[in-house]
Amino acid sequence: MSGDINWWKGAAIYQIYPRSYQDTGGDGVGDLAGITQRLPHIAGLGVDAVWISPFFTSPMKDFGYDVSDYRGIDPLFGDMADFDALIARAHELGLKVLIDLVLSHTSDQHPWFAESRASRDNARADWYVWADPKPDGTCPNNWLSIFGGSAWQWDARRQQYYLHNFLTSQPDLNFHNRDVQDALLDVVRFWLERGVDGFRLDTINFYVHDAQLRDNPPLPPAERKSDTAPAVNPYNHQRHLFDKSQPENLAFLEKLRAVMDGYGAAAVGEIGDSERAWEVLEEYTSGNNRMHMSYVFDFLSGDSLTAQRVVDVFSEKARRAPKGWPCWAFSNHDVVRHATRWNLSDPAIRAYATLLVCLQGSICLYQGEELGLPEADLTFEDLRDPYGIEFWPEFKGRDGCRTPMVWDGDAPYGGFSTARPWLPVPDAHLPLAVDRQDGDAGSVLTHYRQALALRHQHPALRDGDQSGMRADGPVLSFTRGGAVHVRANLSDAPAGGLDAWQVMVGPV
Ligand code: BGC
Repeated sequence: MSGDINWWKGAAIYQIYPRSYQDTGGDGVGDLAGITQRLPHIAGLGVDAVWISPFFTSPMKDFGYDVSDYRGIDPLFGDMADFDALIARAHELGLKVLIDLVLSHTSDQHPWFAESRASRDNARADWYVWADPKPDGTCPNNWLSIFGGSAWQWDARRQQYYLHNFLTSQPDLNFHNRDVQDALLDVVRFWLERGVDGFRLDTINFYVHDAQLRDNPPLPPAERKSDTAPAVNPYNHQRHLFDKSQPENLAFLEKLRAVMDGYGAAAVGEIGDSERAWEVLEEYTSGNNRMHMSYVFDFLSGDSLTAQRVVDVFSEKARRAPKGWPCWAFSNHDVVRHATRWNLSDPAIRAYATLLVCLQGSICLYQGEELGLPEADLTFEDLRDPYGIEFWPEFKGRDGCRTPMVWDGDAPYGGFSTARPWLPVPDAHLPLAVDRQDGDAGSVLTHYRQALALRHQHPALRDGDQSGMRADGPVLSFTRGGAVHVRANLSDAPAGGLDAWQVMVGPV
């Protein structure tokens, strides 16, 4: 790992979902010590950094994305000594560490919210988004929660509604209040002082809402997309002009960047916006004064990734975000694993892995992807995710991609834990465990290592420009940095002189 401050540009980042990585405490839930134990596996893949999903103190209504103490480690995951040990070991192995800060909202158990909801005139009364009902008692406007229903929840004590873009137990912080911004910047400094190399910033375009609380206009059915919320969710029926992606956010991001620059840190901000994601990407990442990278949803949708679709996505990017720097992912803790979502055969999984490392941008891999894991097929009784419980069975939620990592195909629970895990380990995952694939030259795991090595062998694949992208039927071709030519047959029949699913990467 170099000391280069631009390390993030074209980096490969490995996402860890701590609840499901490795349990060392014997309670069926993964922990920080487990991550530390498994860091050599991650370093061995050839990635540059890890992104660790939230491990902060939380009532776990949204499994850590509802934080009740930004500076505390939830006892489920360990303590600060475990965190320090994790950072030290990661750095020893040459891995950068990005932690997942959820600044847009807190848990309703956060002391800030307890104080804020206590009265209309306390010191933190304005730290969250409070609004009076309409004269008929209904919600202040038509904004919807991603997790279902209105984005407003009535509070009997204040006789007002508060805003929540996600669960009712995730009240939105009021970024129009300078004190809120300062308090969050202090949180950022706290973790930078602790040695992190940067952040994944949850729902970064949701920080600021329209101060006038204007209604979102309806979105005609033909324009609705289901990349940031499932098709059965009426959230997709609105044009989200006012509840997110507000211009006032830019000034906050500049302050945030200034703090990070003091430490040479980097951030990837998650942009959930089906209509304006490219414009927001350009605003947030095209200069050197806001964010470094933006996490985008284009390859996280159900649309199969044909050669033409890759061309279309990059043409849109060139047109609407020419200078923005995206971070691509095929899988994460919120979507159906891509092996299942795109119904991929073993050779197809390999072809997409090679394609991912060749694309211009930074890239994220999600734990278990390197094993070719399919989505776990869970029953309603297995579900833990409130999102899935709300929309079942039309949308089964996010538990199927959050089941435990499998390390040892013969051990109970795949070697994840000695106790019954919080989500089941599917039998179908056991033959794909790390120990079964390690050392096998023909395994998917070995293929991922080889694919990731390409980004080190060819610097043009990390930050070179991308030109000449075209689709000839199923064959995608493009050049990186004028030096490396990529040709990929994204189909299960020979085409363009390539075998089924063959990807060629070589000098121009
Ligand atoms: C995270 C989700 C989380 C939501 C609310 C997201 O985009 O990735 O897992 O539920 O933000 O914090």
